[in-house]
Parts: sequence; structure tokens; C-alpha cells
Amino acid sequence: MLGREVRLRWRACSLRLLALCLAVFLCTHFSSELKRKSLSQSGLIAKVQSREPGIEGHNSRMEEVPSKRQVIYVRRGSKNGSYGRQGSNPNVRKRDTLKPIRWHIDLQPWAGSSHSLNEEATRFLHYITKSQIVCSRLQTNGLTDQSEDTVKPWTVCLDDKFNLAYQIRNKQCRVYSFGLGEEDNIFEFKMASGGCDVHRFDPSILSAHIHEGDRLWHHRLSIDWRDPNPAIATHRLHSNTKKLGTILNEFGHWKIDVLKADMESAEWKILENLILEGIVEQIGQLIVEIHLHWPGFEVSGNDSSVVRYWYSLFKELEHKDFKLFYTYKDLSKPQMFLKKEVFNASSCYILSWVNTRWT
Ligand SMILES: *[C@@H]1O[C@H](CO)[C@@H](O)[C@H](O)[C@H]1NC(C)=O
Ligand SMILES: *[C@@H]1O[C@H](CO)[C@@H](O)[C@H](O)[C@H]1NC(C)=O
Repeated sequence: MLGREVRLRWRACSLRLLALCLAVFLCTHFSSELKRKSLSQSGLIAKVQSREPGIEGHNSRMEEVPSKRQVIYVRRGSKNGSYGRQGSNPNVRKRDTLKPIRWHIDLQPWAGSSHSLNEEATRFLHYITKSQIVCSRLQTNGLTDQSEDTVKPWTVCLDDKFNLAYQIRNKQCRVYSFGLGEEDNIFEFKMASGGCDVHRFDPSILSAHIHEGDRLWHHRLSIDWRDPNPAIATHRLHSNTKKLGTILNEFGHWKIDVLKADMESAEWKILENLILEGIVEQIGQLIVEIHLHWPGFEVSGNDSSVVRYWYSLFKELEHKDFKLFYTYKDLSKPQMFLKKEVFNASSCYILSWVNTRWT
């Protein structure tokens, strides 16, 4: 009887001992694990520090107390490092590693508190009629003196501080021209004979591609702000419209030295698409004919919202360091602004920007 009780007590005791041992083991295991983790964190910091001298200041602080938040920061730092390496590899396109897709442009604040058309139009018209940077070597339709005034003045800047003059001298320049089959092709011919590869996109030509001379190509394609619905595209083979990003991918082109566009009021949505997708950064100089007699394709809202939207698009360009160096008011077109004869405005302007970040 007594012997049995002793045995039972002994068993309970050993069970407790076992539980205690287990607890001690788990405790030491976790604490060593914790130690190891914090060690590897500071190791990571040290590694990043040795690779990126620019953020030393932050790291010396971090090494003292590696907290959770700082670890996140460090991880990001090392990831950016690998993006940087990819970026320097010419085979990897910068666009693929860029920021998330944007869905809307940033609208500028209203020009005034009443949101009136008068205020918006005054601000906008002032903006488009004033160049923001001086170009001392303007070249219009391939001519440095602007003698031919029968054609539209498509104007580029050949100042040495911008890359285009250099690219032309080295016969490494590429021009894209988007239009809707108008006859005025002097600019394209002149740029091609000057040494640029010129790609003219014209949906009205008969074959898919025509090669003319050494450096001029015509493609039966038009630029759009969205890719076509595949279901429609298969039935309408002749209406071949694509986004510029898609065309660049398919042609294997990365940069466009000059983009000329006369899109008959589709320019707003196309410009918006180029900004939202970050394509505009691949363009060196941008020459666009803008149309102001109506809001444009798929641009909606009352008149003051429309003008604010136009203005915001140009401010987006300016934010990307595109500077207006040439502006032209077309007096041969109806002098109309949003269907009204107001503000002494024309329905049509030609604007040229240079991308001052372009190298
Ligand atoms: C136009 O619409 C916006 C909002 O969409 C509004 O804030 C503004 O007051 C309107 N302007 C006029 C002149 O009606
Ligand atoms: C209207 O525009 C024309 C051409 O830009 C200019 O010569 C003229 O002075 C302007 N008129 C007024 C009243 O601003």
C-alpha cells in the first residue's frame, strides 16, 4: 500500500521534472533564435552600408538599436540596389522596373475660386503662348530659316545642349510621326535626308509597311490611348491602332528622339496615356498640334474642367522637365475656343517641348 503510494508520487515528480526540462529547453532555444536573428539583421545592415555609402548616416544610428521598422528600411535599400544593377544593364528595359501604373493625372488646382472658364482659359492660353526655355537654333521643317510658310511649322531645337543635334550628326536619331494621312510630309522627308530614321504612322496607306529611300518608313498603324479590343481587332484588320508603348515594344525601340503628332483632337488622351505609362520619358523632343475648338475625344466635363484638364496635362510634362521652346498660333484655322469666338484664341496651336532630362 505504502510502496504503491511512493511509486505514484515518484512518477508524478518525474513528470513534473520532464515538463520543467522541456520548458527550459524551449526557452533557451527561442532566446538563441532571437539572438541569431538580430545578429543577421545587423549583418545585413553592415552589408548594405558597405555597398551604399550614401546612406551611412542612417545606418550608424540603426546599428545601435535594430528595430523592426529599420529592418524594413534596410531590406528595401538592398532591393533598390538590385534594381539599380538591372537598370545599368542595357538589355533590361527601365520601364519594366519602374513605379506602379498610374490611373489618373494630377489635376492642378483651379485657376481661381469661381472655377470660371475665363480664369481657366486665361491661365491656359498664357501657358501655351510663352516658351519656357530659349532655343537658339530652331529648325522648322528641316530649315533653319523659316522661309516656307505654306506648311505647318514643325520645329525642333538643335542647340548643342540638347542631345538631338549630336544624334543627327552621328546618324543615330529616330523620328516618329503620327498623323491621319495628311499631305504635309516635308518635315519627315527633311529629317530623313538629314540623317534620321523616320517612322511615319499613317493608317491610310495601302500596304502594311513601305520603305522609301534609305531612312523613311511608312507603317499602316495609328496611335491610340488604349490597345484595341482583341475581339474587334480580328474583324477589322485595316483599322490598326495601338498604344505607343505597344508599338515601341514591337519595333524593339527604346528611345524616340523626336515625336511629331497631329492627332485631330485625340492628342489629349494620347498624351495622358504617355504620361500615365511613363512612355513620355523615352521621348527627346515632342511636337504636337493641339486642337481647342472642342474638348477632344473622350474628354468630358464643363468648359472650365476641360481647360483645367488640358492645363494639368502640360503641367505633368513640365513636372517631367519638358520645357516648351516653341509655340505657334495658327491664324489660318478658325479662331475658336470651345466652340466660341472668345479670348482671341485660335482653335489650333503647334507646340514643341524638349525633354531636358534626355541624355
Ligand atoms: C464645372 O464643374 C466643376 C466640377 O466638375 C465645378 O467645380 C465647377 O464649378 C463647374 N464650373 C462651372 C463654371 O460651372
Ligand atoms: C489677337 O491675336 C493676334 C495674333 O496673335 C494679335 O496680333 C492681336 O494683338 C491679338 N488681339 C488682342 C486684342 O489681344
